Amino acid sequence: MLKKLYLLGIGPGDPKYLTQEAKELIERLSLFLVPQKVGAKEELTEKRTSLLKRIKGSTHYEIIYLPFPEREKGSNYRESVKEWRLKKAQILKNALLKIDTEEAGFLIWGDPTIYDGHIDILKIIESELTIEWEVIPGLSSFQVLAAKGKLSLTELSTPLSFHTPRTLRKLKHIEHPVVVFLDNYETFNLFKKEPLQILWGAYVGTEDEVYVKGPLIDKAEEIKKARKNYKEKKGYLMEIYLLKPQNE
Ligand SMILES: C[S@@+](CC[C@H](N)C(=O)[O-])C[C@H]1O[C@@H](n2cnc3c(N)ncnc32)[C@H](O)[C@@H]1O
Repeated sequence: MLKKLYLLGIGPGDPKYLTQEAKELIERLSLFLVPQKVGAKEELTEKRTSLLKRIKGSTHYEIIYLPFPEREKGSNYRESVKEWRLKKAQILKNALLKIDTEEAGFLIWGDPTIYDGHIDILKIIESELTIEWEVIPGLSSFQVLAAKGKLSLTELSTPLSFHTPRTLRKLKHIEHPVVVFLDNYETFNLFKKEPLQILWGAYVGTEDEVYVKGPLIDKAEEIKKARKNYKEKKGYLMEIYLLKPQNE
C-alpha cells in the first residue's frame, strides 16, 4: 500500500503557475493520481495529464485516473456533499490499497485549501487506514484573477470574503470585497442596484483566459453574453469573479 500521498496544488491550469515546490515534487515522484472528468470537462483531466508530460518529459511515470462520480443533487446540500465525499473516499482508498509505490501525488486544481474537498476526503481515509499525507499549496484562481485585473483584494485593509452562490445570495448588501467561486447562476444580478465594481474572469491563467472589468451595472449584460458564448464554444465554463464597493 502507498505510504505517503501529496495533495499537490497545481495552480489554475497553466504550468507556469506551478510553485517551485510543486514542480520539484512532480520531478521526483513517479506516480500520480488524477480525477477522471467526463464529458466537456474532460479537458480538465487532459490539462493535468499534459502538465505532467511537460514536467516529466521522457522519464518514466504512471498516472492512475480515478472515476469519481458527479455529486447527486439532493434537497439537503450538506448531506449530499457528505455522501459524495464518502463515495470519493472509497474510490481513492481502493486505489491506494492496490499501489505498491511508496509515494504519489494527487493533482489538485488551484490550491487544495480553497473550495476543494480532498482534505476532508483524506481525513475520512485516515480514519480507516494508516497513511501519511501532506498538502502542497498552489496558486488559487482568485489570486490570478486579482493580479490580471490589477486589483488589490484588501486595498484599505478591508476584510475579504469568499462565497459560492449559496452564501452570496444570503447577503443583503456587499460592504466589502467578495470573491465568488462556482457560480453557475449569475448571482451578481442580485446586486446590480448597488454601486459595485466587478472583475469577472473565465479560464483564468490559461491560454483561453478572458476578463471583464468595470461597474457592475454597466458590465452585467456583457458578462452574461460572454458566459453564454463560452459555454457554447467550450462546453463548460470555469469562471470566478470579484465584487467590491466602488468607493473602495
Ligand atoms: C472546485 S473549485 C476549486 C478551486 C481551486 N481549488 C482554486 O484554488 O482555485 C472550482 C471553481 O474554482 C474556480 N476556478 C478554478 N480555476 C479557475 C480558472 N482557471 N478560471 C476561472 N475560475 C477558476 C471556478 O469558480 C470553479 O468553478
